Amino acid sequence: MLEGKKIVLGITGGIAAYKSAELTRTFVKQGANVSIIMTRNATEFITPLTLKTLSGNPVYADTFSLSGDWDVGHISLAEAAHIFVIAPATANIIGKIASGIADDLLSTTVMATKAPVLICPAMNTNMYNNSLVQDNIRKLSDVGYYFVEPEHGELACKAEGQGRLPSSEGILEEVITILTPKDLKGQNILITAGPTREPFDPVRFISNYSSGKMGYAFAITAKRRGASVTLVSGPTSLPVPHGVNFVGVSSALEMRDAVMDHVADSTVIIKVAAVADYRPALMSDSKIKKEPGTLSITLEQNPDIISEVGKIKGDRVLVGFAMETEDLLKNAYNKLLAKNMDLIVGNDLSRPGSGFQYDTNSVRVIDRSGDVRKFPLMSKINIADRVLDRVKKLCDQRGLPGSMGDVDRH
Ligand code: CTP
Repeated sequence: MLEGKKIVLGITGGIAAYKSAELTRTFVKQGANVSIIMTRNATEFITPLTLKTLSGNPVYADTFSLSGDWDVGHISLAEAAHIFVIAPATANIIGKIASGIADDLLSTTVMATKAPVLICPAMNTNMYNNSLVQDNIRKLSDVGYYFVEPEHGELACKAEGQGRLPSSEGILEEVITILTPKDLKGQNILITAGPTREPFDPVRFISNYSSGKMGYAFAITAKRRGASVTLVSGPTSLPVPHGVNFVGVSSALEMRDAVMDHVADSTVIIKVAAVADYRPALMSDSKIKKEPGTLSITLEQNPDIISEVGKIKGDRVLVGFAMETEDLLKNAYNKLLAKNMDLIVGNDLSRPGSGFQYDTNSVRVIDRSGDVRKFPLMSKINIADRVLDRVKKLCDQRGLPGSMGDVDRH
């Protein structure tokens, strides 16, 4: 995700400085070119050699060890950076930047950059909550500096509280979000994901193998592109994506209610969830005991959520999925017409690397005119991005977001 991006990573002198090694690796693995500036105190916690080895670039450790051309060096670093990340950021560096102090290489270079700056504070809870530190954070946020809030947990000083450096994945996600153009800003995108569970006694249910990965990839990608995202999700083992409005549900009936609650406010609805078509007609209050012979469970039909949305959607863009094992194109196109969708993403379950549990998928995207686009096997994040390109075009054609009008739920 970060190919061709130049990240300048500033490391300051806190115990979390050791985590900057993993952060460097995370950025490099994503294809970024990482240049590191360490304050002198940071070199007490982790060696420049470690970071030089991991980044594959020279590390600027302090002003005195630099060659005569450092002035040019730090300005060119400041100019070349697509983004500046300071992790961990001490109260000291936050205070310096907020006060316009530039007395070492890191603070000087930050002062000289026009790139976005992401500051990741990590410190003792009392320090973090100190009103001077909070005032500095507010002041910097107000003028466009980005912050990742520290996490709660046990701190190096053994106290419990807010102050831990977030995970490398969390910081990476912020970096990608900051660097992604916000072409979906203004769109309210409602996404469903995961399986539903249809219980027949307090400990058992009928469900399917959906992992939620495809729907969550849509939520993450739409959020990165600036959309306001509501994710209605059945039970999955995935972490809740940061920055989305998350609505957890279990059964198809709960999913239907959650979707209907949000349709009016949405400009785009993407229904990725693998909704169970049937639910047990009866739910036993107590655990069903084993008896000799067979057990029959009568199933009744669940509402078809996307069909209900299709009837009331107005100009909203409606995208559905079709999971097929045969006649993909014909079945998918028929579903698109029957359920009044604008686009349908056909999932070819017969291809290796495609389907529920994989991080990749091989899909066809069909529009109302019957035009079919074939996407080769690619990551679910890339598929979401490409489908959102099509969604964006439809939004532009319809002048969305515009006045969508209310919907009649009944
Ligand atoms: N869908 C839905 N509500 C349901 C069943 C499906 O909203 N009760 C949505 C899915 O989220 C998906 C689309 O309908 O976007 C197609 O789902 P799929 O299971 O492939 O289609 P079905 O109409 O259930 O057809 P079948 O299972 O017979 O292939």
